Amino acid sequence: MAEARPRVWVSQPLFEDLIDRLREHFQVETTVEVTRHAPAAITAKLAQVEGALVTLNERIGPDQLRGAGRLRAVANLGVGHNNLDLDALAAAGVVATNTPDVLTETTADFGFALLLATARRITESERWLREGRWRQWSFADMLGADVHGSTLGILGMGRIGQGIARRASGFDMRVRYHNRSRLPSAVEAAHGASYAGFEELLAGADHLVVVVPYSAATHHLLDARALGLMKPTATLVNIARGGIVDEQAMARALADGRLAAAGLDVFEGEPEVAPALLALRNVVLTPHIASASLATRRAMVALAVDNLIAALGQGPDAGAPPNRIGG
Ligand code: 8YV
Repeated sequence: MAEARPRVWVSQPLFEDLIDRLREHFQVETTVEVTRHAPAAITAKLAQVEGALVTLNERIGPDQLRGAGRLRAVANLGVGHNNLDLDALAAAGVVATNTPDVLTETTADFGFALLLATARRITESERWLREGRWRQWSFADMLGADVHGSTLGILGMGRIGQGIARRASGFDMRVRYHNRSRLPSAVEAAHGASYAGFEELLAGADHLVVVVPYSAATHHLLDARALGLMKPTATLVNIARGGIVDEQAMARALADGRLAAAGLDVFEGEPEVAPALLALRNVVLTPHIASASLATRRAMVALAVDNLIAALGQGPDAGAPPNRIGG
């Protein structure tokens, strides 16, 4: 009797033509509508499959792995993987993968777009115009902060941080960065970037872009004290994870004029957005779309599919998925 093909769960609706590649190897259970899976529902799904392709919405920790005796691989759709407990996955013998590189440039484009939109008050002024409040052109309307020629602070100088630094060179910005470890001087020189201590970075930046990975070590890295080091004229852009910034402290600083503006693509409780942020005029809010170009989202799915096929011992990279993380 032919052996049953391994079962795979795909947690959200994705590009069906790319998911078809999974069907060449596995029995695939897809998800037809965008779904907020309860933690217990994820536990129940993982108990039935050998592999799972999941997004940042699906948190997988020890509770979800209880009973997942057949599970061998989890392919995460995204470079960030704070939704996965890598230690718990490794302890359960489950291989985990992510999707780096394919989203670097698209995400850096968006970070820069959010910086420009925030500093130059683009969405705020559009709202104002649509509300019919533009009665007479005035010299003093919507004065913002210059991006060209200013000092850009990059918190987290990985692939995406470096992509932002490359874009900044076209705007004649002074680029400073802070990272867990300092980059080789050749990489610094190639990106026109100089290293700064954490506090020095915050104090010197006219615009700060947060691209550091989220972990227990970076939870509320930008707390009230850290935000207090920033210039009151500064712009803060976060395209990493909401939990890196203490949102309530940031909202207070924005309301009190201790921080000029913020551009936020990520939120601590997303998709819920703190009312204190929604109430502010000097924030640009976007729904976690930094990697959302059609080409890049397709490339992410294609890579996650390759990773899952390989992690489950099939295809050209059988047993050696290109983007293994943890354990
Ligand atoms: C994804 C992201 O949209 O890659 C990441 O870490 O935050 C985004 O690019 C998200 O992870 C989708 O699951």
